Amino acid sequence: MRILHVAAECYPAAKAGGLGDVVGALPKYLELASQEAAVIIPGYHLPWILNQSWNRVFSGMIRLNNVQVPFHVMECESNELGFSLFSVDIPGLFDRNGIYADANSGMPYSDEVERYIAFQQAVLKFIQHIGGIDIIHCHDHHTGLIPFMVKHCPEYRSLASIPTVFTIHNGQYHGSFSWDKAYLLPWYDAQARGLLDWDNRINPMATAIKCCWRLTTVSNGYLNELQYQANGLEVLLRQERMKSTGIVNGIDNKVWNPSTDPMIAFPLQGDLNKYKKKNKIELKKHFKFEEDRPLITFIGRLVYEKGADLLPDAISKFLYEGGKASFVVLGTGDPGIRDAFLRIKPFFENYFDTSIQYNEKLSHQLYAGSDFLVMPSRVEPCGLNQLYGFRYGTIPIVRSTGGLAETVIDISEPGGNGLKFNDLTIDAMCNSFHRAADIFNQNEALATIRQQILNLDFSWEKAALYYIQIYQSLKNPTV
Ligand code: GLC
Repeated sequence: MRILHVAAECYPAAKAGGLGDVVGALPKYLELASQEAAVIIPGYHLPWILNQSWNRVFSGMIRLNNVQVPFHVMECESNELGFSLFSVDIPGLFDRNGIYADANSGMPYSDEVERYIAFQQAVLKFIQHIGGIDIIHCHDHHTGLIPFMVKHCPEYRSLASIPTVFTIHNGQYHGSFSWDKAYLLPWYDAQARGLLDWDNRINPMATAIKCCWRLTTVSNGYLNELQYQANGLEVLLRQERMKSTGIVNGIDNKVWNPSTDPMIAFPLQGDLNKYKKKNKIELKKHFKFEEDRPLITFIGRLVYEKGADLLPDAISKFLYEGGKASFVVLGTGDPGIRDAFLRIKPFFENYFDTSIQYNEKLSHQLYAGSDFLVMPSRVEPCGLNQLYGFRYGTIPIVRSTGGLAETVIDISEPGGNGLKFNDLTIDAMCNSFHRAADIFNQNEALATIRQQILNLDFSWEKAALYYIQIYQSLKNPTV
């Protein structure tokens, strides 16, 4: 089958979060399972994209209100990705240094609506041009209007028989916009207006949920949570439950391999203890911390959704009450949360340090060198970091929600692989830190858990097969 993934991110070309990791890995594993998979993303002016060689494979024009916008579809020459990668150059809209926000100022782009309406139409024109696509697989709200456009826009109706799959990676963001901007859309059947609407706004996430042939999300736990917590779309998600499936993401075991990872200083060669210790010491080049204590790390966006706002208080309380651990935080995000971390830093020299940046390489080193990884998420559709943690022998400490609840088993239970807490409170977090510190001092127990989590298999090889089943059932309804 020929499957085209449409998304705003794809690692290593463009990654802001887990969406990029998934879109950069799933197609590779679909290919390994004998499918033909390709990805199409906007042609941002990001370093990886600018450093590749591209061939122009199609040029076209779309209409945004009364303006004709030219675009070019480029195919990446690299054959290292394991799938074909296309990018859409749309001068004026995507020739910028960031994905969603300016890389220097951090200011989000204000023309997201224009950008993604243009991108989605360019993708559809390209699909019309190449023909032969069996499945269009769209990811998150940036691509949510595609399932609608192929059915209800005369310009794209020639594609109406191609099944669309829509995956929700994050149900909090809908990309919704005012009806005042409806003039930017391609012409659509008047009676289909209701499919665009949710709460008197055009809501691409809601539209996708209504119009896609099959809906997936990135864990079963999250699929259930969405029925009562989806930022206003709960009723709709309940209504469309019958066409929905939860599939836990895999990780790309080729990229995330502690034995071969070029981004870590000391690859794993036999002795697990030595590998952890050496990589921990390596981290002292970047952070100030007491290495004899367990190192508890947070990696990710500093946002409310990830519970990052609670960490400064939880860390302070734990250290003030004499808890024995060191903490490191790597990430960017909300300036208020960033400032809270910077404020506590001088109080806990040697026990707490932070680096406010997105840094892929340093994050790999942190997975290798940390003892524990904390994820106090309020919402976590799947979560990949805990899976990366497992792979690098780092024990996750997670709040039991969504994909975290599904992939992490508390060590007090059989097959335990991490530490879990339920309540989103400072006390619950401190309690987990104390549990972590206790385990750290029990050499044998620590070694056993580390070995156990290294052997876990969350690879895409398995997860990709679930997607293939869905594609097949759409192409051939009797399967
Ligand atoms: C989003 C979610 C995260 C998930 C990722 C990939 O970033 O917040 O939980 O793992 O998408 O699906």
